[in-house]
Amino acid sequence: MSEKIRVLLSEAEVDARIQEVADVINKDYEGKEVHMICVLKGGVFFMCELAKRITRPVTLDFMSVSSYGDDTKSSGVVKIVKDLDQPLEGRDVLIVEDIIDSGRTLSYLLRILKGRHPASIKLCTLLDKPERRVTDVEVDYCCFNIPDEFVVGYGLDYAQKYRNLPYIGVVELED
Ligand code: PRP
Ligand code: MN
Ligand code: MG
Repeated sequence: MSEKIRVLLSEAEVDARIQEVADVINKDYEGKEVHMICVLKGGVFFMCELAKRITRPVTLDFMSVSSYGDDTKSSGVVKIVKDLDQPLEGRDVLIVEDIIDSGRTLSYLLRILKGRHPASIKLCTLLDKPERRVTDVEVDYCCFNIPDEFVVGYGLDYAQKYRNLPYIGVVELED
């Protein structure tokens, strides 16, 4: 069995849409600094491309989480593998993700990060699969709503591969 990748969103489409979303963020954060938090590993490519287009002062931090087994996953519990380096108190926080799927990862993260008393906290995602949602998550900025297909590229992986593709593709299995 091998995989073939079909292009869903081209590099040009993705880059143009990131610029549009960055323009909105730049307006919304007028007079503010944006403290961007990348959720590793998937969020890293989008974070870089978005941050390059933000014209407000930007600071960056990184967090790594992993889901427990399926049992605890359904209760929305994720384990912090690497916590943020810096406190959030008083900061305008923008969480940057590659995709919101069931919503479990982000509903948990939002809950614990809100507890650290940021001045504000918003969520920006490259992709959203609304039909897969199990846990409600308020998405403030979304580049693309996509159908329920297995996507890779721009940070998204299939068995850790394909994160480096500069476009969003759908994995198609073939013999
Ligand atoms: C993926 C993706 C999101 C999360 C979305 O990360 O990058 O972080 O799952 O799923 P959810 O909405 O159902 O919680 P993954 O756990 O695969 O780690 P990775 O970012 O290192 O690939
Ligand atoms: Mn992830
Ligand atoms: Mg993954």
